[in-house]
Amino acid sequence: MTTKVSVPLSLKWEEDTLYLLNQQLLPGIVQYENLKTVEQVAEAITSLKVRGAPAIGLAAGFGMSLAALSIQTDDITEAKETLVEAKELLAKTRPTAVNLFWVLDRIEKQIQQAASVEELKTLLIHEAIRLYVEDESVCHRIGEEALKVLPKDKPVLTICNAGSIATAKYGTALAPFHLAAERGEFFSVYACETRPVFQGGRLTTWELMQSGVDVTLITDSMAGHVMREKEIGAVIVGADRIANNGDVANKIGTYTLALCAKAFGIPFYVASPLSTFDRNTLKGEDIVIEERSADEIRTINNTPVAPSNVNVYNPAFDVTPSELITGIITEHGIIYTPSEETLEEFFSLLK
Ligand code: MRU
Repeated sequence: MTTKVSVPLSLKWEEDTLYLLNQQLLPGIVQYENLKTVEQVAEAITSLKVRGAPAIGLAAGFGMSLAALSIQTDDITEAKETLVEAKELLAKTRPTAVNLFWVLDRIEKQIQQAASVEELKTLLIHEAIRLYVEDESVCHRIGEEALKVLPKDKPVLTICNAGSIATAKYGTALAPFHLAAERGEFFSVYACETRPVFQGGRLTTWELMQSGVDVTLITDSMAGHVMREKEIGAVIVGADRIANNGDVANKIGTYTLALCAKAFGIPFYVASPLSTFDRNTLKGEDIVIEERSADEIRTINNTPVAPSNVNVYNPAFDVTPSELITGIITEHGIIYTPSEETLEEFFSLLK
């Protein structure tokens, strides 16, 4: 039996306008902003109104469509120059999630093909929509794969938000919980609040509650205690970039969870689409880690929680070495004991 559950969406494209859920306002205000320019999309990515690796990429795809729609000239060379600038603007927004660059490359291939400005506009909109539709189906398949390995009789722990609002729909790490809710199956989820900007506390709890999933919020520092006391059965997280040796960059705090999970012998899964694999980056140390503003740590909602001039180090992501990862759950199955060799084998079977 399937139940109709409400899985929230991060973005929608309707009548040449991008409607974007402003995640900065969640959970208090559920507001879709209407974006009409590529500059607005770039600002929305930088300020975390839209966030999560796949959703950043999808927003950038629609941002390129908006840039194309704004072109007034019939000169295709001039039009393509405008798009080079739009692409550069989007590429500068956030460095770590590789999906952004993967989408921009897919869009670039369409730009190369266009022979007229009209064709350019059509090709870009179609590609952005195709990326969106593909992502929903990919996330659904990741959810199905995850359901094969996650325990239902013990709670599962997650961090950040690798959910529906971080993708086109369903999410990666949260996809199994949404699918289970649709089928009337029960999961108990513990969500780390995810300092400094609370993607776990503000977004994951809200999103899972929309779907009717049983979710309990903890602070990040409670994770080890909760793993032991609540007998966590598995940890599942998303990814922003996966290096060729299986090292995973994801939200800051993921590495600590992986170390704790190892200490307790708890399976540690990464749920990720193939678009998050960066086969050109050899190992985790080569991944560029975004550093964000000090005020994300010094203040909460503009209220000081530390001296205003204290030194701050604010990396948005960390790298979990592949040895700590039980398996990477993709839309094409699970890569167990990720390493350069197992990734190579997995990708060669897909060819
Ligand atoms: O800084 P954010 O909120 O964009 O970080 C998001 C994450 O780290 C997610 O786990 C990752 O992007 C995967 S989203 C399916």
